[in-house]
Amino acid sequence: MMDAGERLGREELRALQLERLRGTLRHAYDNVPHYRTAFDKAGVHPDDCRSLSDLAHFPFTTKADLRENYPYGMFAVPRDRIRRLHASSGTTGRPTVVGYTEGDLSMWADMVARSIRAAGGRPGDTVHVAYGYGLFTGGLGAHYGAERLGCTVIPASGGMTSRQVTLIQDLEPSVVMVTPSYMLTLLDEFERQGIDPRSTSLRVGIFGAEPWTEGMRQEIEERCAIDAVDIYGLSEVIGPGVAQECVETKDGLHIWEDHFLPEVVDPLTGEVLPEGEQGELVFTSLTKEAMPVVRYRTRDLTRLLPGTARVFRRMEKVTGRSDDMVILRGVNLFPTQIEEIVLRTPGVAPHFQLRLTTEGRLDALTVRAEARPDADAATRAAAAQSIVAAVKDGIGVSAGVEIVDPETLERSVGKIRRIVDLRERRA
Ligand code: DLL
Repeated sequence: MMDAGERLGREELRALQLERLRGTLRHAYDNVPHYRTAFDKAGVHPDDCRSLSDLAHFPFTTKADLRENYPYGMFAVPRDRIRRLHASSGTTGRPTVVGYTEGDLSMWADMVARSIRAAGGRPGDTVHVAYGYGLFTGGLGAHYGAERLGCTVIPASGGMTSRQVTLIQDLEPSVVMVTPSYMLTLLDEFERQGIDPRSTSLRVGIFGAEPWTEGMRQEIEERCAIDAVDIYGLSEVIGPGVAQECVETKDGLHIWEDHFLPEVVDPLTGEVLPEGEQGELVFTSLTKEAMPVVRYRTRDLTRLLPGTARVFRRMEKVTGRSDDMVILRGVNLFPTQIEEIVLRTPGVAPHFQLRLTTEGRLDALTVRAEARPDADAATRAAAAQSIVAAVKDGIGVSAGVEIVDPETLERSVGKIRRIVDLRERRA
């Protein structure tokens, strides 16, 4: 059964969004000094929002705003109403902290429950959660959502890969929630232990927290005979469960628009782009209490599309983050483009890395991809040539390619790092 939000009509949904949007703008303005200052500076007031398109007059919120207000400055409720904190890893600069009221945690669990259901999970299913537990939102987010749906949860968290395989063999979960890159690590481990991953109890995999391609979907679905669907989210908005691909259509992710209002904007000008155009995804929360976000710039690149399996609009699979974009001799390149190429090249495993170096005064890219165990020297050479050609023809840059031995590239236990940047720093 779809929940009440999923059964709204398009017009009812828009009316609900406007009412909630106005409430959020007021809540943010009244309770967060940052928003009051930013709205005043832009000459806008919550009462100016009379239609959904009026949101475009309000200022954006960025990661830098969150950092500047670290740790609690963006919170809109008194500290004693906060029930949970999560934080981003903070690889660059200060981490960002996000907070949840009891109501927020409940809404989050509802959205993840809705996501698991859309992915094909049902009450009574056993769900193996191999997203990391802790400050990262993946583990606990998936966990409470699965419980909310009425599932049995195996809170495996990330790591201890051989034990994960044992747990899946013995406890017979039907659903796995994990990053796609760690799923590959798990599949390799099944094979290492001599177990055919197609023989497990798993039926559905809910993969997210990092970009992955259609090629990766095929690879995973074929290797373990499951339906592989995409889940999207970010800590600043709530965590996993902002958008989810429906198993019946597998055609991009339906955004749970009754709680998270999306826009796609031109990353340079900030101008709102029409449906169907590629740009940066921006979210305004509609029901969050502890930390409402107004026009939060995700830096994720995608496009908005009309709904299919649900009333909500869809977002296309995320191509990448603007932060992960490599600019090589004037050409923009995302790791997902290389993933597509590597995954359709015979003789190479779905494990690869992009190494950036400085050669002379220029940046150089080397794609390092792992050979499949059965690939002989001739196959490897052909694979290298074919990747060089595909990068040149498809992306328009020259890259070096190294086909490395099986099991030599670093394996993922969570979010994988695709880019190894060894470029010399220039003054
Ligand atoms: O990664 C939340 C999450 C956990 C989503 C588990 C799905 C599953 P953060 O650590 O704040 O939160 O990182 C958010 O990860 O802005 C995207 O760049 C990326 N990301 C998340 N899901 C996807 C996805 C979690 N399905 C950042 N496809 C986001 C591509 C994704 N990128």
